[in-house]
Amino acid sequence: MIDLRSDTVTRPSQAMLAAMTRAETGDDVWGDDPTVLRLQARVAEEAGKEAGLFFPSGTQSNLAALMAHCARGDEYIVGQAAHTYKYEGGGAAVLGSIQPQPLDNAEDGTIALERIAAAIKPIDDHFARTRLLALENTIGGKVLPAAYVAEATQLARSRGLSTHLDGARVFNAAVASGQPLKALAEGFDSVSICFSKGLGAPVGSVLVGNRALIDTAHRWRKVLGGGMRQSGVLAAACLYAFDHNVARLADDHANAARLAAGLSQVGEVKVMSQATNMVFVQFPQMHCAPLEAWLKERGILTQMLYAARFVTHLDVSAADIDTFVEAVKAYFASR
Ligand SMILES: Cc1ncc(COP(=O)(O)O)c(C=O)c1O
Repeated sequence: MIDLRSDTVTRPSQAMLAAMTRAETGDDVWGDDPTVLRLQARVAEEAGKEAGLFFPSGTQSNLAALMAHCARGDEYIVGQAAHTYKYEGGGAAVLGSIQPQPLDNAEDGTIALERIAAAIKPIDDHFARTRLLALENTIGGKVLPAAYVAEATQLARSRGLSTHLDGARVFNAAVASGQPLKALAEGFDSVSICFSKGLGAPVGSVLVGNRALIDTAHRWRKVLGGGMRQSGVLAAACLYAFDHNVARLADDHANAARLAAGLSQVGEVKVMSQATNMVFVQFPQMHCAPLEAWLKERGILTQMLYAARFVTHLDVSAADIDTFVEAVKAYFASR
């Protein structure tokens, strides 16, 4: 199958599986899994932060971070399109008693600074306490402009807010923009980084920040059921991904550009955006379900339910992109 639904669908390679079977392990709840400790230290160092903490998922890493920054009745400012707000089951509110203050994202993924400033509540018993600004990079595949990130985090700091970055795909941002991870993490008190997206690990995210914040997140991770035992097996996959699968993200970006260029030749298709490894497309609504079925019959998995988004990753080749584009052309030619 050619699977363009997400970059989360990648399967561990033989070499990654071999690294996992070789992993030295211990009981990480007791803090003595050497492979987990190595991963945490390495990610923290590369991100320019004091400490790291391994999580089974990006959702849990984001949630533990929000809970470490905000107490019950506090509020975080977040984009309407942000994963932590829109796609994590409302966890901040449900499990953290944290009120989200969502604001519109502009086309480029930014949230207007004046809107952020206006949304910060005065200290008054009528209001939740605004504690945190959360951004996402990449967002919808787009790399946030570096100058914007610097201004937004500076604004937050100047108003006494802490800052969190959902960096699920921050390595895509690094490869696309040429900025090192450290530069992308600068200005944020915490960053959640996923290894199970384009980097191809089966599981795993690392939250980085200062020691005190990570200690607090460690407690919330346990409360959320994320304390794992011989998780060095999983951390080994992340270390393998770190060593082998970062630079090659450039291939995914090139394949996404190839996909966008191919689809833009199809009259019925409107390519809305392409950035890093994601392509957003509009098809006439009546074609969405039949096209998805047509593609599936030809071994191509897509999802066009709430947005036609195609995502490239290490299990998709340039030839697969051409097969996909040809199948879309054949579908419209057959109508
Ligand atoms: C931007 C972003 N943040 C966080 C997550 C959550 O990661 P996980 O699926 O590991 O919980 C995702 C998942 O796709 C994501 O796209």
